[in-house]
Amino acid sequence: MSTVPIHTDHDEISAEEFDLLQQKVLDARNLSYSPYSKFRVGCTLMTESGEYISGANLENAAYGACICAERTALSKALLEGHRKLKLIAISSDSEEPITPCGICRQFIREFGPSVPVYMFGTKGKFQKVYLQDLLPLSFGPENLGIDPEHYK
Ligand code: THU
Repeated sequence: MSTVPIHTDHDEISAEEFDLLQQKVLDARNLSYSPYSKFRVGCTLMTESGEYISGANLENAAYGACICAERTALSKALLEGHRKLKLIAISSDSEEPITPCGICRQFIREFGPSVPVYMFGTKGKFQKVYLQDLLPLSFGPENLGIDPEHYK
């Protein structure tokens, strides 16, 4: 049995924003390039300023070069200068919500230890976990003396 606290509220955002987010993250799967696994993953971030940024998994014939949906969206956010997230949302073609892989958990960590991770299934199932519960005792920018908010 999981000891990770799983939440079902969406306290960070309004009901309207939640509906829009769900639509956007399910739509983000259409950006997926996944001819090998045929496992589409979509990701939509909400920045602190309220912008939505989407990404999807991008696969490669050299399998080790595949990039997860979360890291494509987070890269986009970083490139556009965003340093603060309200939340990160992910989806796949599965009815059950999926959780971010280990590398993605570390990539999300760059935005702080407590980012809410919203996970959507295809038929309305929703779960929320906080990054600190997915990646306890994490290593982050602070360990290198860096305040990411000031590193623009
Ligand atoms: N994948 C993601 O995009 N995010 C995750 O957190 C888990 C896995 C992708 C990678 C690969 O393209 C496909 O799902 C199957 O592993």
